[in-house]
Amino acid sequence: MALPEKLILVCQSFRLGKEPKGICHKGTDGLLQYIEEGILDRGLDVQVATTGCLKQCEKGPVLVIQPDNLWFKGVNSEEAIDAILDGLESGEPAAEYLLS
Ligand code: FES
Repeated sequence: MALPEKLILVCQSFRLGKEPKGICHKGTDGLLQYIEEGILDRGLDVQVATTGCLKQCEKGPVLVIQPDNLWFKGVNSEEAIDAILDGLESGEPAAEYLLS
C-alpha cells in the first residue's frame, strides 16, 4: 500500500502520567468522522491520525497538516473543517484558522 501524500494530526488531548487531560477533545465529538468524510468527498490522498496534547491547549482544538507543518486553531466545527480541507485542496491554507 502506498504512503499517503499528507497526514492530518488531530489533537485528542491525551497526556502521560497524572497530568489532567487537555482541552482539545471537548466539543469535537463527531469531527473525526466529518474529517474522514470530507477527505473522501474531495478525493484527497490524506491519512488522519489522533495525537496526544500538542502543547497549544489555549488555542485548541488543534489540527496539524504534515509534511506542510501547518497548524490550525479553534477547529471545533464542521465549518472549520470545511475551510481547512478546502484550503488543502486548493493549496491556499485557511488563514482564519492558522496558528502562528
Ligand atoms: S489538549 Fe490539544 S494542544 Fe493540548
